[in-house]
Amino acid sequence: MLPRSLRCCLPVCFLAAVFAAAPAAPATPASVDDRVRDLLARMTVEEKVGQLVQYSSQEDMTGPASSSSIAPQLAVGGVGSLLNVKGAAETRKWQKFAIDSSRLHIPLLFGLDVIHGYRTIFPVPLATACSWDMALIEQAEHVAATEAAASGLHWTFAPMVDIARDPRWGRVAEGAGEDTYLGSAIAQARVRGFQGGDLAAPDTILACAKHFAAYGAVQAGRDYYTTDVTERVLRDVYLPPFHAAVEAGAVTLMAAFNDLDGTPCSANAFLLDRVLRQEWGFQGFVVSDWQGILEMLEHGNAGDLREAARQSFLAGLDMDMEGEAYARHLAGLVRSGAVPMARLDAAAGAVLAAKFRLGLFDDPYRRGDEAREKAARPVPEHLALAREAVRRSCVLLKNNGILPLPTAGLTVALVGPLADAAADQMGCWNGEGRPGEVVTVRQALAEIYPGARLRYAEGCRTTGDDRRGFAAARAAAAGADVIVAALGEAKSQSGETTSRTNLDISGPQLDLLRELHATGKPVVLLLMSGRPLMLETVEPLVAAVLVAWHPGTMGGPGIADLLTGAANPSGHLTLTWPRSVGQIPIFYAHKNSGRPAPKSGHPEDPYYSRYIDSPNTPLHPFGFGLSYTRFALDRLRLSAALLQPGGAPLTVSVRVRNTGTRAGEEVVQLYVRDRVGSVTRPVRELKGFRKIALAAGEAQDVSFPLTPADLGFWRADQTFGPEPGEFEVFVGDDADATLTAAFTLAQ
Ligand code: NOJ
Repeated sequence: MLPRSLRCCLPVCFLAAVFAAAPAAPATPASVDDRVRDLLARMTVEEKVGQLVQYSSQEDMTGPASSSSIAPQLAVGGVGSLLNVKGAAETRKWQKFAIDSSRLHIPLLFGLDVIHGYRTIFPVPLATACSWDMALIEQAEHVAATEAAASGLHWTFAPMVDIARDPRWGRVAEGAGEDTYLGSAIAQARVRGFQGGDLAAPDTILACAKHFAAYGAVQAGRDYYTTDVTERVLRDVYLPPFHAAVEAGAVTLMAAFNDLDGTPCSANAFLLDRVLRQEWGFQGFVVSDWQGILEMLEHGNAGDLREAARQSFLAGLDMDMEGEAYARHLAGLVRSGAVPMARLDAAAGAVLAAKFRLGLFDDPYRRGDEAREKAARPVPEHLALAREAVRRSCVLLKNNGILPLPTAGLTVALVGPLADAAADQMGCWNGEGRPGEVVTVRQALAEIYPGARLRYAEGCRTTGDDRRGFAAARAAAAGADVIVAALGEAKSQSGETTSRTNLDISGPQLDLLRELHATGKPVVLLLMSGRPLMLETVEPLVAAVLVAWHPGTMGGPGIADLLTGAANPSGHLTLTWPRSVGQIPIFYAHKNSGRPAPKSGHPEDPYYSRYIDSPNTPLHPFGFGLSYTRFALDRLRLSAALLQPGGAPLTVSVRVRNTGTRAGEEVVQLYVRDRVGSVTRPVRELKGFRKIALAAGEAQDVSFPLTPADLGFWRADQTFGPEPGEFEVFVGDDADATLTAAFTLAQ
């Protein structure tokens, strides 16, 4: 669909052709900076403002549309970017219109939410995070960039690097989970994957780290809601993944919808100027979220749109997504002196610099190429990587030995609303992914268990109350040796605007599961969702639980590989799995409190931090994941008992042994606790991880370097850095790691 209607296109083109006197292009200046300066010198205030205006196609909208038709604005250079315009032909059409009709022929930037793949859909970001495999994540984003670029796109609104500790929030599916250290590493891998080494290459797109900042901290997990985060928590927990993304070269950031300490992020000078520009030296540009500037009227920190535009722009927000704030008011604000021209030049210059770096002034059509787009439809290599991503992202939470399933002599009942659900399998934000290209679990298992050996029944939907399919499900189960129940969330239950207060497996699915359990046949729960769902009462009913998240195009084959043992599960949780919604927020890096729970037993004295109706512990800790083999970790060693600032790093090493009978991969995790600080410190924090492959019986030493910088935090005096004193080290394969040692950080 066209971005706005082209109703007025012809007269505008005509007028543009008659009146636009395009100045001759100067000899190509040496650097991007020179070229930007040269161009800015030739631009009017309105043209500079135009670079900061972004409109959407009416497809894939994530909010109300602004009202006007954009063709006249495009023709006068009044639009710098379009979002949600997809496809080589469409992007070319709009690029050509903008370039041919505007005075300075400045190319447009086309952006889209390429969140976990474009045409080849990878598992949702929370899932690939569970792979703990940075190379895989980077490669997946490179595939996404390749496909998106071939479709004429220049820019993805990803990665979402929001730390999220509340699975009621539907957007946990889009991020890396709860941990700052892991989230920072993943942010960098994703930025590298999208942007590659050379932005001018035709298979790269700009990354956009979002949502700056603390969107994952929305109260009660309710989307678009407010936050209450101290500067300390902001700096220790929420900001580092953004900083990491900036250090990896992310050219753009998106301001979050939420307010932070009373100021919406869209106008938050502390974030957009002090932290981002002054402290981190960010040189790129910041885009608002959808009508984020306009929303300040609802937030209540601006009385009208002009004031909202003024506040946002002065705070450091460069581009207005699908709003009218800058288009209507920015030029006037500059002319009145309310906004300095230097700020306008800096913002427009940053957008132009990105366009130069992408090579758009040299060839505005270099990415969108219909032939290349066709070639970039799911090609075997992309599909193979997507399958591998599924194999490495699924997390095995329980297995009484029933998995892997034998492929010979077994009849399988595959039951549930997600067993053959191509669209739902892709999850939230599925780009140009097409249900017809998805291989479902049913299709994949039918290859392995042909004919009557696979008995399928949908059973019910994920919502509603229709149980008419239960009888067919029972019948399918009756003739089978094992039941695989594919339950969880439809795609419409995950992602933006899908906050939930009840995280039970929804609709009639739980009753269906109980009926399957009542057959006496062993049940394997295949959970497909964008977040942890409550399993405390479910796990006792089933023989195994494999969490497949929303696994994307190749979900079926990847899951079949795991169920049958062609691949060995190696995913580990990046979000603590609660027992109940009442425990939320629950995360491993919590504070100890003055009355921590005793390590064991039930003391007479109940006055410690606890519930009277639930343990404090989660159902499964952060970092947890089973395998079809077993691993033993021992021989924890520190290279020294004293870490000297400026001296050699301390090395923590451990021996990891595969004690089972098949090859597998282990995620070895290093946690540190700072015993005494100028402010209270978390009970443990991840400071290193390695994913290693070991053959049956094989052993390997794994080591992690630790430097004083790794121990830094926002201290009582509001500076960042480590404090001398005692530290505990824990190594294991989840956040409950029990191997422990201690060292001292010297003065
Ligand atoms: C709103 C979402 O919050 C943001 O993540 C997304 O990039 C924009 N809409 C554009 O679709």
